[in-house]
Amino acid sequence: MNQNNNNQGPIGIFDSGVGGLTVTREIMRQLPSENLVYFGDTARVPYGSKSKETILRYSTQIVNFLRTKNVKAIVIACNTASAYALEELQQQLDIPIIGVIWPGAISAAAATKNKHIGIIGTAGTVKSRVYNKYLRQLDSEFTVVSKACPLFVPLVEEGLTEDRVTDDIAKRYLTEFKDYDIDTLVLGCTHYPLLRNTVRRTMGEDVTLVNPAYETAKSLKQLLAEKNLLNTSGEEVHHEYCASDMTDHFVTFADRVLPVRVDQIRVVNIEKYPTTIE
Ligand code: DGL
Repeated sequence: MNQNNNNQGPIGIFDSGVGGLTVTREIMRQLPSENLVYFGDTARVPYGSKSKETILRYSTQIVNFLRTKNVKAIVIACNTASAYALEELQQQLDIPIIGVIWPGAISAAAATKNKHIGIIGTAGTVKSRVYNKYLRQLDSEFTVVSKACPLFVPLVEEGLTEDRVTDDIAKRYLTEFKDYDIDTLVLGCTHYPLLRNTVRRTMGEDVTLVNPAYETAKSLKQLLAEKNLLNTSGEEVHHEYCASDMTDHFVTFADRVLPVRVDQIRVVNIEKYPTTIE
């Protein structure tokens, strides 16, 4: 399928659930003229504790769903799915697809001065070592230390972003980074930017916190420009929100994160979409 003239086609964005809305917010800021379709896999979240095979299968089904929306490009707004599914999907698709990890690595490489970088993410993202791989590609002298922080996602989902419990858990997870003298810490999970204040309190002002969302939106903008895919029609933009299960939680989270109101979420039976790219 040749999608080269599909400038008004939407950008497909997906995540394991609602966390990818933090990336969507940044895309809305940097690309306000683009139509968007967001898909949150709320029926099968979390991805952070699942195997590569499962995440690749889920991501392929979601990409097949997004293609029915005639998307012109896809953003994997989930660190775990970017770690486990991006490279395979990139090889199989005829439209551009990007993840959040390469942009996160670029931001971290630009921010560090002493070349000691910390990564926090889900168990899956940390186990994949994809951040480590990309950072070493950017500079073989980087020392990269990573740590899974599995309790952070449920704490954010429960709205406990400013809470003593979260501060205590952050101390437990993050104190060991002090032994490695890191000057940069990548918030390598979609939910963690909402814990920025907590992480800052634990790590102190001298450690730069990197949110991959900003650089992801920037990379997307560059990519669309290079491929002549920017929407320059001037028509009113349309944002569509889809999920694999209906959750009130989606709307509550969207209200906390997005600059626009989400009034409608379409429930999609994601299991009916193929597990291979045709
Ligand atoms: N969206 C996931 C990520 O960025 C976090 C939530 C999950 O475990 O599914 O890795």
